[in-house]
Amino acid sequence: MSDYNYEEAFEAADFIKARSPRTPQTAIVTGSGLGDVADIIEDKIIIDASEIPNWPRSTAPGHAGKIIIGKLRGRDTLVLQGRVHYYEGYSMKAVTFPTRVLKMLGVREYVATNAAGAVNKALEVGEIVAVRDHINLMGSNPLIGVNEPRWSVRFPDMTNAYSPELREILRSFGLREGVYAAFSGPSYETPAEVKMAGLLGADLVGMSTVPEVIVANSMGMRVAVLSCVANMAAGISPDMLTEEEVLDNMKRTSGKLARVIVNLIERLEEAE
Ligand code: HPA
Repeated sequence: MSDYNYEEAFEAADFIKARSPRTPQTAIVTGSGLGDVADIIEDKIIIDASEIPNWPRSTAPGHAGKIIIGKLRGRDTLVLQGRVHYYEGYSMKAVTFPTRVLKMLGVREYVATNAAGAVNKALEVGEIVAVRDHINLMGSNPLIGVNEPRWSVRFPDMTNAYSPELREILRSFGLREGVYAAFSGPSYETPAEVKMAGLLGADLVGMSTVPEVIVANSMGMRVAVLSCVANMAAGISPDMLTEEEVLDNMKRTSGKLARVIVNLIERLEEAE
């Protein structure tokens, strides 16, 4: 049983380094139905996550996820397909272990994508929203426990959890920004919970990403999160939510999302 501690993350990072000659500068972590971004990576090597020591074991055999390392618009880029979720029964430490390993590989920008429900009625299904802040309603925090000083300080600041520079680039592409409220799931929110999230200032609701964002910040990576609006959240639309609807809408958005990511990587590479 893995503790997901420093030594274990080091070992996982070592394994990946031995398989790839490149040091990835930017990591892209893709959510439900959004994994196609990996198709545009050139000169790539693919690592099956199940081969990596200490990596959180998938509850569905053969679906552990993949790491793709290669070039995107000249930039050394890593795509992590298939994050693990808190609602699957993984601990917060397991959910954020890959994030820690990415930092130990040398990753500087952590770009995560997810599917979300829109609380803000002005948002549209299929829209990509740049997250500007979050509200953690998951009931836990991945940094709970003995602090590992080689990774972070005890009380990391979250004022700029979503990198102002990366947000500025995303805004320049015409993306709107929003606040993401994370629930544990796996049931979708009730209409009353969605109403509460809206009153608290959320524009989006979802079940992922926030633990990773907390850990990525605590380790000093710059973070950007792209939320794809899969549906209007419960009670905002009169329709019931289905997993098929969410996945169908995500598949339709994945091309647009890939373009946003390519443009972002291009801008990061130009800025070097
Ligand atoms: N709620 C939470 N997570 C989601 C939703 C939602 O409405 N849509 C896609 N992921």
